[in-house]
Amino acid sequence: MTTVFDLRNVPEEYLSNPYRILSELRAKSPVYKNPDGTFILTGYNDIVQTYRSPIIWSSDKKADFKPKFGNTPLFEHHTNSVVFIDPPDHTRIRRLFQSAFTRKALAAFVPRIISLVDEYLDRIEDQGQLEVVEEFSFRLPIEVVCDLLGVPRQDRELIRGWANAILTALEPTLTQEQLDNGNEAVVNFKQYLRDLIIHRRAHPDDARDTEILTVLVDAEADGDRLSETELLHQCIFMLNAGHETSTNMITHGINEMLSNPDQIDLLSKDPDLIETMVEEVLRYQAPIQINNRRTITDQTLSGVIIPANTTVHLMINAANRDPAQFPEPDRFDITRRPNRHLSFGLGVHICAGNALARVEAQIAFQRLFKRFPKLALRSSAVIAPRLRFREISSLHVSVT
Ligand code: HEM
Repeated sequence: MTTVFDLRNVPEEYLSNPYRILSELRAKSPVYKNPDGTFILTGYNDIVQTYRSPIIWSSDKKADFKPKFGNTPLFEHHTNSVVFIDPPDHTRIRRLFQSAFTRKALAAFVPRIISLVDEYLDRIEDQGQLEVVEEFSFRLPIEVVCDLLGVPRQDRELIRGWANAILTALEPTLTQEQLDNGNEAVVNFKQYLRDLIIHRRAHPDDARDTEILTVLVDAEADGDRLSETELLHQCIFMLNAGHETSTNMITHGINEMLSNPDQIDLLSKDPDLIETMVEEVLRYQAPIQINNRRTITDQTLSGVIIPANTTVHLMINAANRDPAQFPEPDRFDITRRPNRHLSFGLGVHICAGNALARVEAQIAFQRLFKRFPKLALRSSAVIAPRLRFREISSLHVSVT
């Protein structure tokens, strides 16, 4: 690498394609000290090791977020979300909503996902072309996660705006406007949920058995299982976590398949490849590109000492392309097996919605490619200039 790599100020190329630069970084220094003193991990095994020891590699973000957010609603939100809490509090909170993610609960969702996908495809049927994000991939995940929480249909556009503002605030560098939007979104989102909770308490019979809102509201009513602040922030987090990531997974899947027509042929000849296809999409374009941890004590990885109290960036995007783990890592291969990508993380914080996201993707791809075998790209995907989320902001395709 000719210049010093700095995650706070990445080269232009990185924003559209981070993989070549990260692969160079992994080859030269897999445990790399960023100029701001944080560390960047790019090797698969090192990252697995950090996920596996949550007590040493803490997810608590108070020390990182205090200087970034100050005493603001964004600080309250991001430090109360289950994903940024260490055991034992993490264990207590995660256990509460686990019932919403059982096999049985997931199976109950399948007919709903199929009917939503078919509804979108019916609308596309008569169109010669479509913009994939708005007209297809954004729609399904937000419907599903709002159903899961118990948010009424008419309010789903509100959620989209708030979620975007809150998640954007996790980017490494922020403008004042982005901060202000994020804070306003947390305040409005909390008020919205308070009203929804009042309604749910007044009409408990309206709820479905597996609805997370009801499970959490009951836990809060119970006293010491969940505080009101914890309750509101888990709901906000779940609504945010569950849709943008899945939207990007679906858009990337369509983009990669249309960019590799031989893979579409493979899938049409052998529809059972759908499961390995979804895993490959997740590996190849991880919707969440970076997770973070903080060292509690001095740690040594690949011979490098990382001092206690250091912020560490786990580069999921780099781990998923580590040649020591994935032969020909830059090849998009829907038959790849094994495929132990890290796109859902690993260990105690492993994505609670991973099975749901996988099912959404399998149904969406299966039905889309079967119904529209002539789907083709009209122009290159537009990649949003974000580091933490691998987002396609628009993708134009022709249908017939
Ligand atoms: C393709 C879609 C998705 C991706 C790539 C994704 C990715 C991730 C990752 C990487 C983590 C671990 C974070 C860490 O260890 O620091 C995580 C956690 C989490 N995800 Fe997902 N996610 C997706 C979809 C969903 C969905 C659909 C839901 C819920 C409906 C969801 C709910 C959660 C929750 C609650 C956690 C926190 C778990 C914990 O801290 O114990 N995710 N996700």
